[in-house]
Amino acid sequence: MTALIDPQKIPQRILPDGAKIPCIGMGTFGSDRYTPGQVAEAVAGAIRCGYRLFDCAAVYGNERLIGDVFQAAIEEGAVKREDLYITSKVWNDKHGEGDVLLSCAQSLHDLKLDYIDAYFVHWPFPNYHAPGCDGDSRNPDSRPFFVEDFMATWRQMERLVEMRSVRHIAMSNMTIPKLEAVLPLCSIQPALIEMELHPSFQQPELYAYCVERNILPVGFCPIGSPSRPERDKTPDDVVDIEMPEVVKIAKAHNVHPAIVCLKWAVQRGQVPIPFSTRKENYLDNLRCVTEDFLTEEEMALLAGADKNCRLIKGQVFLWEGASSWKNLWDLEGVIDRSGWAKA
Ligand SMILES: NC(=O)c1ccc[n+]([C@@H]2O[C@H](COP(=O)([O-])OP(=O)(O)OC[C@H]3O[C@@H](n4cnc5c(N)ncnc54)[C@H](OP(=O)(O)O)[C@@H]3O)[C@@H](O)[C@H]2O)c1
Repeated sequence: MTALIDPQKIPQRILPDGAKIPCIGMGTFGSDRYTPGQVAEAVAGAIRCGYRLFDCAAVYGNERLIGDVFQAAIEEGAVKREDLYITSKVWNDKHGEGDVLLSCAQSLHDLKLDYIDAYFVHWPFPNYHAPGCDGDSRNPDSRPFFVEDFMATWRQMERLVEMRSVRHIAMSNMTIPKLEAVLPLCSIQPALIEMELHPSFQQPELYAYCVERNILPVGFCPIGSPSRPERDKTPDDVVDIEMPEVVKIAKAHNVHPAIVCLKWAVQRGQVPIPFSTRKENYLDNLRCVTEDFLTEEEMALLAGADKNCRLIKGQVFLWEGASSWKNLWDLEGVIDRSGWAKA
């Protein structure tokens, strides 16, 4: 079966070990809005369109159905396993000794794979919240980031590489102070770091920090996640697809503003992983990286449009004594454990 868009036409990024990864992928978080069946159906359609990179996670609750899709696509000959780049992530309640290995085994089983291309530590602390909980809920067991905790988790990630269960290991929702503390301790460096990236939240320092260290930034919420869960919305949030700069460029190219966000992301250098269950949208999202590029002036206009507007604030992960979601992001340049009183 030939894909609608030839995957060979999708530019590839090269990871430090020479492995290739498409410059754009598809997200699979249904945002508590789309059922596992709807997301799996979109993945099946996306493979037929020519997507080869899929961003999965245990906590999205849909790996089993997505795994059925991968298995069927490989068996039917629609795609070869080695042409897919599949990620998964260990959730916050599986950081304990041995749990990372069990969690990865479960994802391998659900995704029906014998290896995962990149396995992420989803959040850098073991703070669990129940799926679908509201934004004010707090878990009394939540802790701030501690280097020793994180490294105990990372050692298990390294073990997964040794066991050949995963090809690359990766981090997500990190900050420069946390990376400064842990990178010198890692026997295996992260090949990728997933972070929130869209025109109104460009994280230029963290982005540059990763690129300088040969770590590929993967950008989540690349369109500004218009259908994210209500708990992640505040009245001050910028809507990327309504930003005047984005809308102006979209008009000039006669495309939806979402497409401008994705072209900007790929031309800047990060790997965006947009989510959509609508075929016309996910097809456009893939096609847009093969044609009609943004000009240097348009890229500069978007670079200047950053509003430092974080959408996924993570407030449900706060520990007792913390006062604001900002405590999670080390805004003062040091690891923030504000209000933490427990020994
Ligand atoms: N590591 C982490 O902690 C983390 C956190 C958040 C997200 N993620 C990953 O990042 C992925 C993407 O983030 P996201 O899903 O929150 O946000 P997103 O990709 O920025 O936005 C998705 C929304 O954009 C709309 N959309 C997509 N393509 C469009 C187009 N061409 N035209 C118009 N609208 C379009 C979709 O609506 P339709 O369905 O109607 O097309 C959907 O509502 C997730 O699925 C997940 O894999 C990771």
